[in-house]
Amino acid sequence: MKKTIVLLTLCLPLVLFTQCAKKTMMSKTASATTTDAAAEIKGKYSASQIAEGKVIFEGSCGKCHKLRQPAEFKVSAWEGILPRMCKKAKLDAEKAALVRAWVITNAKIG
Ligand code: HEC
Repeated sequence: MKKTIVLLTLCLPLVLFTQCAKKTMMSKTASATTTDAAAEIKGKYSASQIAEGKVIFEGSCGKCHKLRQPAEFKVSAWEGILPRMCKKAKLDAEKAALVRAWVITNAKIG
């Protein structure tokens, strides 16, 4: 009986600690997503390509609804929205990639 209590006392802080560490790590990953995605794009696309993405975005994405600004959604949300909407806007892969470059580099932080 005593042994069980000692064991529990030893294990409880460990369990609590692991839970906390997990949370900290998860929030770090979440905040890194925006920066990682923006860094990936900045490595792949020039400033003028990103600017071209803005022009395509402004010309194609405000036809069915008012133009939604990149800063309205986080990267994670845009990654779900963009493929659907680029299809709706009938953008080819190249144009869709430029629109993504513009939107992701200007998405809501977080
Ligand atoms: C052919 C019409 C059409 C075009 C073109 C279009 N959209 Fe949409 N969009 C919709 C409709 C319909 C909805 C609402 C239903 C839905 O979410 O599918 C929507 C919803 C959205 C939303 C809200 C999603 C949410 O979950 O709240 C965003 C953001 C958006 N569109 C962005 C874009 C962007 C960026 C483009 C250009 C690449 C674009 N749309 C082009 C029809 C269009």
